[in-house]
Amino acid sequence: MTETTHLIGLLLGTEEDWPAAFEAILRRLGPVTDGSDTIHRYNAERVTIEPFNLRSKPRYDLVIDRLAYWYYVPREWLKKAALMDDLYLLNSPFTFQSMEKHAAYCAMMRLGLKVPETVLVPYKNPPDHAKYAYTSQRYNQPFDLDSVAESIGYPIFMKPYDGGAWVGVTQIRNPDELHKAYDESGQRLMHLQKAVAGYDVFARSLSIGAETMVMKFDPDQPMHARYSITHDFLDAGVGDEVVTIGRLVNAFFRWEFNSCETLIKAAEVYPIDYANACPDVAITSLHYYFPWAIKALVKWSVFCTVTGRRARYDLDTRRYFDIADRDDLPYGEKIGAYRQLADDYFEVERYADFCASRLATIDEVMLRWIESVDFDRLLVETVRATFPAHEHEHFIAHYRGLLAAWAKDERGRLG
Ligand SMILES: Nc1ncnc2c1ncn2[C@@H]1O[C@H](COP(=O)(O)OP(=O)(O)OP(=O)(O)O)[C@@H](O)[C@H]1O
Ligand SMILES: [Mg+2]
Repeated sequence: MTETTHLIGLLLGTEEDWPAAFEAILRRLGPVTDGSDTIHRYNAERVTIEPFNLRSKPRYDLVIDRLAYWYYVPREWLKKAALMDDLYLLNSPFTFQSMEKHAAYCAMMRLGLKVPETVLVPYKNPPDHAKYAYTSQRYNQPFDLDSVAESIGYPIFMKPYDGGAWVGVTQIRNPDELHKAYDESGQRLMHLQKAVAGYDVFARSLSIGAETMVMKFDPDQPMHARYSITHDFLDAGVGDEVVTIGRLVNAFFRWEFNSCETLIKAAEVYPIDYANACPDVAITSLHYYFPWAIKALVKWSVFCTVTGRRARYDLDTRRYFDIADRDDLPYGEKIGAYRQLADDYFEVERYADFCASRLATIDEVMLRWIESVDFDRLLVETVRATFPAHEHEHFIAHYRGLLAAWAKDERGRLG
């Protein structure tokens, strides 16, 4: 029997909760044996930041990145490792920093999805560049912001073309609000997007490799109450469409770890936000769904490294466009055809077989850990680090209750 050891790197900013969970589950899972009886052992390590030679070989087999979207030293290290060392990345800066929200809207429109009407407007305040004055004087067309807004129709959302975390997002109901928001946008490049007013359901889906969890979301609640524990809140067809759209966008851009937002109104699915390079996986946000997310991260990391899955940065767009461009195919059939491409890309079937045959113990491992003192300690520490002192007691009880509910459901499911 041969043995091999894999090192998973975690590139982190301020998070302590999910990395601790990931490390605990990977440790408790123990070695994984593949189909040819090779034993795969796992270590997780937090990546540190230091000078690096472009020719140095990284020690990692796979890196989960949560930092490079704002910190450029690790970003450039990831690019070097992707180009030179075949390092497997969740996610690659090649795809995420060059293909953000705006690119996702464009791709989805091209694929025939129901992205609300969206217009990109030039900067309110110009970029600081010596050549700007001449260029804009010569080439920038004057435009009437009010008529752009009227052509879309109020209410509208103004939001950064590449944004995240609600920064710079404003709901606009009239011309006064429009001008105020545009004046405040300064040097940020903005979209104006028609609001899906009066939607029935906000579905937020978190995708990790071949798995997707669709959760009912309420953006008007405080962070700890945005995800509600509701199963079957979408009818089967719509639920499947939401999963397909998320997986499609991820496969299209080679995104492996991403959260997507869709608004559902009268059984129509409107995608509004499909590019989050660093999706929220905090215990305090995901609560009941936290064990699912950590398991999916561990399973996908193990699957990719055991099977030697190769990272892909080339976009095979033509295969998707060939479906998009067929006039004879109605929307529903296109969605079905995209799903096949996306499932193929993520090897959904092979992954499911792999999990069933090679990772059969992980559900039990997670359940025991959630019921352990170790997990409780992490929960308490996380609440203490997240909320003000007078709320600690309340929120510790709150999250203990939610995770106990998960454990009870999971016991029932496992029988
Ligand atoms: N077209 C729209 N119709 C209705 N609501 C919208 C629309 N666009 C944005 N919103 C609302 O504004 C919120 C923030 O917008 P968006 O998700 O595009 O920005 P973000 O900065 O990526 O936010 P986050 O990082 O929380 O996902 C959405 O969660 C939703 O509640
Ligand atoms: Mg969003």
